[in-house]
Amino acid sequence: MCQPQSPGMRVVITGKGGVGKTTLTSCLATVLAGAGTHVLAVDEDPQMNLPNALGVPYEEAAGIVPLNRHADYIEEKTGIRPGRNGWGALFKLNPDVDDVVSRLGLKVAENLSLLVMGTVKQAGGGCLCAENVLLDATIRHLALRMNEAILLDTQAGMEHFGRSLAKGFGQCVVVADSSFNALSVALQSAALARESGIGLVHLAVNRVTGDDLRLERFQRETGQSLPDIFDRVVQLPAEPLLQTLDPHVARIMADRHSGYAAAVTRLASVLCSPPCPCASPRDHARHHHHAH
Ligand SMILES: Nc1ncnc2c1ncn2[C@@H]1O[C@H](COP(=O)(O)OP(=O)(O)O)[C@@H](O)[C@H]1O
Ligand SMILES: [Mg+2]
Repeated sequence: MCQPQSPGMRVVITGKGGVGKTTLTSCLATVLAGAGTHVLAVDEDPQMNLPNALGVPYEEAAGIVPLNRHADYIEEKTGIRPGRNGWGALFKLNPDVDDVVSRLGLKVAENLSLLVMGTVKQAGGGCLCAENVLLDATIRHLALRMNEAILLDTQAGMEHFGRSLAKGFGQCVVVADSSFNALSVALQSAALARESGIGLVHLAVNRVTGDDLRLERFQRETGQSLPDIFDRVVQLPAEPLLQTLDPHVARIMADRHSGYAAAVTRLASVLCSPPCPCASPRDHARHHHHAH
């Protein structure tokens, strides 16, 4: 396993509900932390499943106060109390959030901290509510040193974030299973991620079985070439043991025989040493599409 290049990496995990985002986020976080990277795993899903996936005990997980309910902290950082409309208010647009992890993060393992955001308000209409400013600052302005990584587990896509937040990410992993519908959503997510300016967009096809022909069929029937659209396409095998390990699924990374764990480890390496985006074949495909 390699470690991320400077100046750290910010990765957002998106995709249709139920495709395996939270499981993948917890496993990526675990393998990166195990390799010595300082990882901040951020849970943006209001269902707050990431703590369970990472093995936070039930009682403790139930007691987590998500960031959006730390009114005092938000006011201290942004200059406004959450819940009030930001209209006319004077925001500190770049609040200093260097202490967000030490004050509100939960250390779940060596090198691995967890931050639970709670429900993030719709940002599409240009909302500048305090919670969003803080989330944005956490992702964008949290000074990442060498060998640090932020992984954001989302509820689905990034549609509700707005562009400003999406811009904070260098990479996006779109998760899908090999169903036609999930792959269709993945294409839409990829387009959104590109529009938001995320440099590297990868596809993780999850729950793949040996006899599954749907990935090929999807490409044939839609005329879309996934390797041209995504910077990297990785396949994550179906892993029955995840059910046994539920809800603390990140433990799969300790299983040396798991094909899923091996594939996640390879994906982590891809994230650590991304290809130069200017040299990617996908760029040519994109220019080609634009020309028409
Ligand atoms: N590769 C896989 N093989 C088998 N089951 C999986 C795999 N990946 C995820 N799952 C299971 O699928 C369910 C949904 O996964 P989850 O990570 O919660 O999805 P999401 O966060 O996208 O809603 C969970 O029960 C999880 O254990
Ligand atoms: Mg989830």
